[in-house]
Amino acid sequence: MAPACWFLVFVWVWWLPLMLAGAKEEHRVEYCPAERCGNLTVSNPFWIADGEAGRSCGPSDFQVSCLNDSNPFLLSSGFTGFGIMDIWYEDRNLRVVDVHKEEDFNVSKSSCNFPSWNTSSKLALPFKVNPTNLNLIFYKCTKTVALLEVRCVNASNMFVRAGVRFDETGNYHDYVLEGCDAIVVPVMGSSGWANASDYEQLISRGFLLAWDETLQPATARLIL
Ligand SMILES: *[C@@H]1O[C@H](CO)[C@@H](O)[C@H](O)[C@H]1NC(C)=O
Ligand SMILES: *[C@@H]1O[C@H](CO)[C@@H](O)[C@H](O)[C@H]1NC(C)=O
Ligand SMILES: *[C@@H]1O[C@H](CO)[C@@H](O)[C@H](O)[C@H]1NC(C)=O
Ligand SMILES: *[C@@H]1O[C@H](CO)[C@@H](O)[C@H](O)[C@H]1NC(C)=O
Ligand SMILES: *[C@@H]1O[C@H](CO)[C@@H](O)[C@H](O)[C@H]1NC(C)=O
Ligand SMILES: *[C@@H]1O[C@H](CO)[C@@H](O)[C@H](O)[C@H]1NC(C)=O
Repeated sequence: MAPACWFLVFVWVWWLPLMLAGAKEEHRVEYCPAERCGNLTVSNPFWIADGEAGRSCGPSDFQVSCLNDSNPFLLSSGFTGFGIMDIWYEDRNLRVVDVHKEEDFNVSKSSCNFPSWNTSSKLALPFKVNPTNLNLIFYKCTKTVALLEVRCVNASNMFVRAGVRFDETGNYHDYVLEGCDAIVVPVMGSSGWANASDYEQLISRGFLLAWDETLQPATARLIL
C-alpha cells in the first residue's frame, strides 16, 4: 500500500475508539439533578421535567410533576392522581395519597362520590402496593348492612370496613357483600389495626407503594 493509505488506516484506527465512546455517551441515561418540590427531594430514579425545555432525563414511569412548586405527583402513564408525601430511596418505597379517593370520601364537601376504580387498578409495574398496608373496603349497597355508615349529604347505604389484610392475589371474596359494589383502598394501619371511623384521615395519610426498577412497566396490567 502507498504511504497515504497507511496514513488513512492509521487515522481510522486511532479515531475508532473515540467514535465508539461518543456513541455510547449518547445512549447513556442522563438523570436530572436532584430537585426540591415542597418538602421532598426528588432524585434518581425519580425526576422532574425541566419546565422550559421540557427535557426528559429519566425513565417515564418515574416522572414527577411539581404542582404549584410544592406538591409532587407521580406522572407516569397509567397513573391518575397519586400525590407523593415521602420517598425512601434505599427501601424503594413511597408514601402516596390517592387524591381522588380523598375527594370522593370528603364528607365536609357537599357531595360524595362512590369511586369507579380500585386504587390498585390505577397502578402499573414497576410500582406495587406494599403488602404491609391494610385495606379499607367501601360498599355502596341497595340496602343497609351491619357496617359503619359513610355519612355524606347525598349518599345513602354507603358503608366502610377497615383493617382488611392486603392480598397479593387480589382475592377479597371473603368480603364480598350481596347487593353491594365494593372498592378497595390501601391505607397504613398502625400495628396491624385501623379504626373504620377514621377513614378520612387514613386515606389522607396515604399508603406505601414499593417500586422495583428491574421490573418492566406494563401499563395495561392491573394488580390488586
Ligand atoms: C396553586 O396555586 C394557585 C394560586 O396560588 C391556586 O389557586 C391553586 O388552587 C393551587 N393549586 C393546587 C393544586 O394547590
Ligand atoms: C412532607 O410534608 C408532609 C405533610 O406535611 C408530611 O406528611 C411528610 O412526612 C413530609 N415529608 C418529608 C420528607 O419531610
Ligand atoms: C374536604 O373538603 C373541604 C371543603 O371543600 C376542604 O376544605 C378540605 O380541604 C377537603 N379535605 C381534604 C382532605 O381534601
Ligand atoms: C353526589 O353528588 C355528586 C355531584 O352531584 C355526584 O357526582 C355523586 O355521584 C353523588 N353521589 C351519590 C352517592 O349519589
Ligand atoms: C374492586 O376490588 C374488589 C375486590 O377484588 C372487587 O370485588 C370489585 O369488583 C372491584 N371494583 C372495581 C370497580 O373494579
Ligand atoms: C373508633 O373511633 C371511634 C370514633 O373516634 C370511637 O368512638 C371508637 O371507640 C373507636 N373504636 C375503637 C375500637 O377504638
